[in-house]
Amino acid sequence: MGFDVEHEKHIHGKAWSEQAKGYFVDPQKSAAYVSAIMRAAHLLPPQAIADLGGGTGFILEQLMRVGLHQATRLFVIDASAAQLSVCTHPRITSITGDFQSFQRSDLVGDAEHLLLISRSVLHYAGKAGQTAWLKQVRRQLRVGEYFVHQSGCADDLATSNAVNRLFELLGADKWIPHLEVMTKLLTECGFQITEDFVAPPAIMISEDLATRYQLTAEAHTTMVSELKDSCHEVPNFLTPTETGFTCSFPFRVFSCKAV
Ligand SMILES: C[S@@+](CC[C@H](N)C(=O)[O-])C[C@H]1O[C@@H](n2cnc3c(N)ncnc32)[C@H](O)[C@@H]1O
Repeated sequence: MGFDVEHEKHIHGKAWSEQAKGYFVDPQKSAAYVSAIMRAAHLLPPQAIADLGGGTGFILEQLMRVGLHQATRLFVIDASAAQLSVCTHPRITSITGDFQSFQRSDLVGDAEHLLLISRSVLHYAGKAGQTAWLKQVRRQLRVGEYFVHQSGCADDLATSNAVNRLFELLGADKWIPHLEVMTKLLTECGFQITEDFVAPPAIMISEDLATRYQLTAEAHTTMVSELKDSCHEVPNFLTPTETGFTCSFPFRVFSCKAV
């Protein structure tokens, strides 16, 4: 169920920093998300923070940079060994594996608090896997603890349809909701949204997507023309270029309290 990260391992590790015009290594792009995590960490100080699908550990490093408490233990859980191979900070413990299988007891003791975070991962669950992934996260939290995530989420249905059409054309079992659907999913899975706001979008270049999803030149051309045809009326999504397009991947930050 969902997208197998094995298909992306050729762009993981050192090459990851070049994705989406450097979005995932840009402290300015992550600043508002990092601030939301810090606010949650002040509300219920956690003994441990785990970044689910945390890749290279970039967000945990940003938390340390803005003054996260020295004693907080930090974990990154990711299915890609290649991503974790560049996560070398001595304070971060890397756990290789699917985050569907981690247990709270691997991270904190009985009397301790846990904060879970995740950026740009939920869409890997595909449409069918959203509820299962969110329920797994909720099961690992106690009432009052937080899950703060920045996830692919559009303001409206037309834009989420456009992104999901792009995933289809790329042959990727990934999926994003729009705000109304994400709110419903989170609520049904046992979360109360205490804060949410739009995060900077990632700009994706069609040629980079072709490399990432291993499309032939012919498949790239087909993808470009089909997406242009189907999305030309979706505002601010797709910008044609001479050889393809750039498009805007919408993100939103959600601070979610386990209830
Ligand atoms: C778009 S990247 C985001 C990386 C990181 N969160 C960041 O913002 O820089 C998605 C990450 O999720 C990981 N991932 C995807 N599905 C996963 C799963 N089921 N279990 C664990 N990690 C997963 C991928 O290996 C990848 O590192």
